[in-house]
Amino acid sequence: MSRAFHPVKTKFGHGRTGAAPHFCPSLQELALSSSAHPQKLIAHPVARLQGRARAPGDKSVSHRALMFGAMALGETAITGLLTGEDVLCTAAALRAMGAQISHENTNQDGGVWRVRGFGVGGGQEPGEVLDLGNSGTAARLLTGILASHPFTSFMTGDASLRSRPMKRVMDPLSRMGARFEAREGGRMPLAIVGTDEMVPIEYRLPMASAQVKSCVLLAGLNTAGETTVIEPEATRDHTERMLRHFGAEVRVEPAALKDVRGGGKRITVVGWPELKARDIDVPGDPSSAAFAVVAAAIRPGSDVVVENVGINPLRAGLYTTLKEMGADLAYRNQREVGGEPVADLHVKGGGLKGVEVPPERAPTMIDEYPILAVAAACARGTTRMLGLAELRAKESDRLSSVAAGLAANGVKHEMGADSLTVHGDGKVPGGGGLVKTHLDHRIAMAFLVLGLSAREAVAIDDGSPIDTSFPGFAPLMNGLGAKIETAK
Ligand code: S3P
Repeated sequence: MSRAFHPVKTKFGHGRTGAAPHFCPSLQELALSSSAHPQKLIAHPVARLQGRARAPGDKSVSHRALMFGAMALGETAITGLLTGEDVLCTAAALRAMGAQISHENTNQDGGVWRVRGFGVGGGQEPGEVLDLGNSGTAARLLTGILASHPFTSFMTGDASLRSRPMKRVMDPLSRMGARFEAREGGRMPLAIVGTDEMVPIEYRLPMASAQVKSCVLLAGLNTAGETTVIEPEATRDHTERMLRHFGAEVRVEPAALKDVRGGGKRITVVGWPELKARDIDVPGDPSSAAFAVVAAAIRPGSDVVVENVGINPLRAGLYTTLKEMGADLAYRNQREVGGEPVADLHVKGGGLKGVEVPPERAPTMIDEYPILAVAAACARGTTRMLGLAELRAKESDRLSSVAAGLAANGVKHEMGADSLTVHGDGKVPGGGGLVKTHLDHRIAMAFLVLGLSAREAVAIDDGSPIDTSFPGFAPLMNGLGAKIETAK
């Protein structure tokens, strides 16, 4: 079997072959592709969607699989890895720290990725600025790893990532002993002055964020003693699950009552574990599957199965909400993949009704509000979404981006500081708008789905960010009967 690197196709062209390919595009390439060469796309109304599709690998799990493989000793084999640009940026950064990462083409879908790790605390000083493209998860989690190494490293990203808050990870890591230099407001580019003499802390998350939780836990790996994170609201637990899989000692207890808002937890990692390489099969991404599921749910007569979708309860809030809205949605063939619950999602189109989505559900569907807003626009009645403050810190200010997209397509709505209310009349929305995506892949995909179910086609100004999380989105959707194409 070949151990050579294989070219990976991204919107930037084919990756190089050889001993040390660079997967992450250079800053100039990012600037060129994302702003100088936006890719305008248009989605036309279609009668219905039908067929089967397979969800791409889970982005959250893919980042972690590479990172934990890099911190383990031995060779970790990963199947089902998402090869979106975000994850490839993580791979490039880990390589710069000394991990050996290779891709082997097998008969299996997507082949096998192999990671030979440097061990906890064994990373080397990156020789270049780490460019993490559009990826907040890569930036926040890697900051935890880099800050717990005794060297200085530098990090940047595209215009979207450079505008996102890093203070949320700088604060706890500073308490542990790292130092930082950042732009005004704790924005990237960022200099990380790390240390291998971190002090363990107990940190109560000021916001519901799996990225911040994971960042602190990862720093805790190279810290003597026990590092604890208290999360008032439960957020996705892939880090805890996967750290255990790699042999770390992770304790999860209910948080004290005073700390709890919605299922809060106290998570403790014991420092200096010897992580051992483990194989991982990455399940399909519920956040990506959401676009095909909603597209089918809002189009009467549709009948679609999306295979291999992760249904971890801390990720599946959208599916709970769709069922409350009256969607004909069933989990078939439930099983476990890579330590995560997985199912094939069978959805049939029909009339949805408006609902109230409670704030405590937000962490379990934080990436799904743009596509839920589209479902709400096609439903009968009012849908109120509460507890959305964190949407303002995503790839774009997602609350404003969604509201602007709804306005451009004639959908009645009100935006609050941390809420969104969408009024559907059960009829097909007007559409016909041009939506600004602001380098935000989920805004791009959500409004293309609206176009499939509107009176007039919906265009987006730039579909290029879609490749960060869902390479092959348009062909997959078109395979189900959608009509998404490049716009003139
Ligand atoms: C992620 C956590 C979430 C989510 C992001 C992926 C992760 O971000 O929005 O897409 O993999 O931990 P926050 O932690 O900022 O809520």
